Amino acid sequence: MQDIGMAKKDSEATSDSGIEAKAGDANYEYVDIKDLEGVGATIASKIKNAGYADIIALATANPMDVAEVCEIGEPTARKIIAEAREAAKMNFLSGLEFEDKRKAVQRISTGSNALDILLGGGVETQSITECYGEFGSGKSQIAFQLAVNVQLAKEKGGLEGHTIWIDTEGTFRPARIEQLAISKGLDPKEALQNIKIGRAYSSDHQILLVDKIPELINKDPKIKLVVVDSMMALFRAEYVGRGTLADRQQKVNVILHNLQRLADRFNLAIYITNQVMARPDVMFGDPTVAVGGHIIGHVATYRVYLRKGKKGLRVAKLVDSPSLPEGEATFQISADGITDAEEESKRK
Ligand code: GTP
Ligand code: MG
Repeated sequence: MQDIGMAKKDSEATSDSGIEAKAGDANYEYVDIKDLEGVGATIASKIKNAGYADIIALATANPMDVAEVCEIGEPTARKIIAEAREAAKMNFLSGLEFEDKRKAVQRISTGSNALDILLGGGVETQSITECYGEFGSGKSQIAFQLAVNVQLAKEKGGLEGHTIWIDTEGTFRPARIEQLAISKGLDPKEALQNIKIGRAYSSDHQILLVDKIPELINKDPKIKLVVVDSMMALFRAEYVGRGTLADRQQKVNVILHNLQRLADRFNLAIYITNQVMARPDVMFGDPTVAVGGHIIGHVATYRVYLRKGKKGLRVAKLVDSPSLPEGEATFQISADGITDAEEESKRK
């Protein structure tokens, strides 16, 4: 385990992350802002300090904003943004290229066959999978299991990959990772070493940690999974009252889109968790709704609603998937981690 700690804008701006990292299997190149034509270290540092963490952020920036924060002329800013767009290869894909990109999609097993089948074969790269449900429903436990399973060989449901874990509630448990690793025949310390934890203390800090992901992947191209546990806790605490709701949703939207872009660029699986809140205004139907509501719903590719079932079982329901039928899967959380419910009952 390695703590990626407090992401400071200054250190981010001056850190030398180099170029050339080819992450994952998808052949996405990582180009640092300072390596764009017409951008030296000084301008790159100003750009990064202004919050444009990588070329994708720069490619989608407003030229007037960039001109102002970098104290350069607007034509120069336009040229730099055009360079960033070129470097980011923000072109249209042909149908065939799109198909090729989809072929690079890989899956991480959750540990339960039933849950994997529900998700179309496991948690997918190039997608955001959101699990929402009440406390103790198993959202974090699935994250622990994925962070271990991603390290397994492909035939065992893994990707021989590493994890970035953004912890917003202080609920990451090294001992649980070790326990799950041992149960999968992995070295527990090595398993922890392969997970990089960033503890977020505020929603702004959470945004910074997400911005830091390309740099971390550049250093460790084996990263295949990003966990955000939980996505909304800090936003929920900071933005109280409806007056600031639009503001909050806009920020959440930025994070989610950044995560989706990272998933596409680096062929990553993104797993986020979300609490539910009671809705006293809803008289019929499900009285719970995910915090962040429809904003996450539009961005997440797979949404899974978790609830506690009978005898300690958990029931996962796939909600609003673009390509898979809605359905349910039952699984169990034991000392060994996530397993199928039947397997468990057979064992007893
Ligand atoms: P919140 O973060 O509180 O919203 O809940 P969550 O959905 O993240 O719940 P979490 O994934 O932490 O699940 C907690 C449940 O998992 C517990 O109530 C236990 O039933 C089970 N669990 C957690 N750790 C262990 C463990 O080490 N062994 C076993 N057998 N069960 C565990
Ligand atoms: Mg949790």
